[in-house]
Amino acid sequence: MSNNDKNRVIVFDTTLRDGEQALLQSLNERQKLQIALMLEQLGVDVIEAGFPISSPGDFNAVKLIGESLKRSVACGLSRAVDKDIDAVRDALCQCERYRIHTFIATSDIHVHDKLRKNFDDIIAMAQNAVRRARNYTDDVEFSCEDAGRTPIDNLCRMVECAIDAGATTVNIPDTVGYTIPTEFGGIIHTLFERVPNIDKATISVHCHNDLGMATGNTLVALQNGARQVEVCVNGLGERAGNCSLEEVAMALHTRKEYFNGLYTNIVPTNIARASQMVAGICNEKVPPHKAIVGSNAFAHSSGIHQDGVLKNRNTYEIITPESVGFKENNLHMTARSGRHMIKSRLNALGYSDDTFNLDEVYRRFLELADRKGQVFDYDLEALLFLTHDMEEQTQFELDNLNVVCGGSGVIPTASVRMKIGNETFVESGTGDGPVDAVFNCITRLTKIDCKLVDYNIAATSEGMNAQGQVDVDVLYNGRKYHGKGLSTDIIESSALALIHACNSIYRAQFIEKQRHDAPEGEHIDPHGV
Ligand code: KIV
Ligand code: ZN
Repeated sequence: MSNNDKNRVIVFDTTLRDGEQALLQSLNERQKLQIALMLEQLGVDVIEAGFPISSPGDFNAVKLIGESLKRSVACGLSRAVDKDIDAVRDALCQCERYRIHTFIATSDIHVHDKLRKNFDDIIAMAQNAVRRARNYTDDVEFSCEDAGRTPIDNLCRMVECAIDAGATTVNIPDTVGYTIPTEFGGIIHTLFERVPNIDKATISVHCHNDLGMATGNTLVALQNGARQVEVCVNGLGERAGNCSLEEVAMALHTRKEYFNGLYTNIVPTNIARASQMVAGICNEKVPPHKAIVGSNAFAHSSGIHQDGVLKNRNTYEIITPESVGFKENNLHMTARSGRHMIKSRLNALGYSDDTFNLDEVYRRFLELADRKGQVFDYDLEALLFLTHDMEEQTQFELDNLNVVCGGSGVIPTASVRMKIGNETFVESGTGDGPVDAVFNCITRLTKIDCKLVDYNIAATSEGMNAQGQVDVDVLYNGRKYHGKGLSTDIIESSALALIHACNSIYRAQFIEKQRHDAPEGEHIDPHGV
């Protein structure tokens, strides 16, 4: 992808690769496709759809995404080895344009201790990889993994050699989030001063957030000449995450003059929707204080602040919630919602009446609402373009719940009926309280013996018949899983939340088993060659 406008910043999104790699549960093909289509609407230029050699599932998802994108360029990751590069080519060769992203580590610790090679070998591998990729496509990105800790002379040499071999984008990752903005800006500045052929490629940055510097490092790199940013929605990614898409896009948008007119093609009003879709599909809550997209990002608590905002919003608000697409919406979509509500929600999401068949969407909506309880915007959108067989099947469903609550001398007792696969089972039991009694029954029915580590309840609407949303975090085999449930009855919300988490555990086990059963050589760690 070429960039002739010196102020245009290319947005390379890696939510589906670096972000997905860090999730507790892998996403399936249809979930990845839905996120990719949303990223395209958001205005992302390059979508890193996955790492095709890593598994047949990743290969198929990259292929499907490549075939479905119209404006954004699809990209696949490969280590600097022939079979990886060929796998990206095989997944994406149907596309009119596509990018191969190949990488190798360049820091001393990675070269010597991880790869057990010397730097000359690394240069040769990088050049071979870039040349091979250039035989397949004109759009080749090369990344110097752990560039942030690479001696500057080596980094300059590597960047020059990669460009010489034909790389059209060279990425400088701060893989372990080690650098500080002035330092990282200095690295980019030095590259522009010392690499003679640097004007033949776009310089990109990929900053991890281990010291909380990812956005700062990314912005300072742009001030020093980088013109591509690698980001993830909600800042997902390995460990402390990657630079967050919404933070960089809104920093450039809000402080355009400060950044001398640098701009991206991101559509700010699509940001909230993107954030909610990624959080929902990836089952990763957005922290309330998260910049731009957290639930508190636009809330004013102190009296002085509230007074100021009432007089003039600009006193304490540099971005409005509406400018990033947050809209007041207190109407929940449940099995009780009517056709009109579904139609107006779809219209509000930008779908005109002629783009969907309301009868069909409404029928499928009711089926889904029966299974899920609450249906979110991204679920509704999925009904528009995903065929029936792509819909997520759930293993566990709540069929009926009966609870006798405590009081003096009464032992809380629950009876739970659940559909498991195609069969129905009932279990009753007691507990320290009604929720505990229900959880004991569900644990026995699902045979998933997980440990509850966090339980939160909040009202999501007002009045006596308000809905209560329960969020639970459970531990299973050393991993944390999140579940949420919504109902006017908080015991039922609690049951739905735990069942949601059990379904995630079930799917994770299923995917794990598939991986385990895959032929030798298909268990690939993206960071080891
Ligand atoms: O963090 C990193 O260095 C990466 C590379 C594969 C670009 O994710
Ligand atoms: Zn990374």
